Amino acid sequence: MTAILRTIDLKKSYKIGKIDVPVLRGLSFEVGEGEFVAIMGPSGCGKSTLLHLLGGLLSPTSGSIIIDDEDLAKVSDARRTDIRRRKIGFVFQRFNLFPTLSAEGNLKLAEKIHSGNGSRSSDRRREVLKLLKLEDKMHHRPLELSGGEQQRVALARAVVNGPAIILADEPTGNLDTENSQIVLDMFRDLNKEFGQTIIMITHNPEAAAACSRTIQMRDGHIVN
Ligand SMILES: Nc1ncnc2c1ncn2[C@@H]1O[C@H](COP(=O)(O)OP(=O)(O)OP(=O)(O)O)[C@@H](O)[C@H]1O
Ligand SMILES: [Mg+2]
Repeated sequence: MTAILRTIDLKKSYKIGKIDVPVLRGLSFEVGEGEFVAIMGPSGCGKSTLLHLLGGLLSPTSGSIIIDDEDLAKVSDARRTDIRRRKIGFVFQRFNLFPTLSAEGNLKLAEKIHSGNGSRSSDRRREVLKLLKLEDKMHHRPLELSGGEQQRVALARAVVNGPAIILADEPTGNLDTENSQIVLDMFRDLNKEFGQTIIMITHNPEAAAACSRTIQMRDGHIVN
């Protein structure tokens, strides 16, 4: 197995006033290219913090995050941004969609950010929106979409550029059974057909069962 992502003794503390509160207390693990991994653990144990670190959205207090042989903790801010743009698709726990843009507009913006210039032809966008059963909602803005539809747009945005690594923070957390199934099916398809590596936080044992492996966290440690 070739590791696409690896952490070494990863630690993160948050400063609250003058006190350092440790959240991640030294995590070392590997994710192989093409793996579909679930991260589980009780609320507050540091799952979102870990995912934000893996996506280069936060800096660790110490330790390494190695993606394709580059340590995110050691490269320049500019390089980190570049790695994030090229290699990573992020699905946030809160959707973070642009409220004034339509579903399609949110995808176009992601393409622009990814490529640095104009967006691509609309084919890929349509294909992704169709996979997520959103083709008739393309021109709706977030406020004109249900929670489940917004979550699916957030997902479409994360995958539209075909990133090597998809990081998803509870992508089925706000969804009913049917919508959860649509999202999980899509992840499985992306993982199988395009070999995209997926790391997904979930509280749902059924969602975790769709993955090839589970990383179990507790109190800032990995317990399995
Ligand atoms: N910016 C911050 N400043 C200070 N403390 C923070 C910050 N972000 C998170 N924390 C704290 O770090 C701990 C871990 O938070 P995190 O969001 O990673 O948990 P989580 O495992 O994702 O929980 P959940 O399942 O509820 O989403 C929590 O105790 C939280 O209060
Ligand atoms: Mg969280």
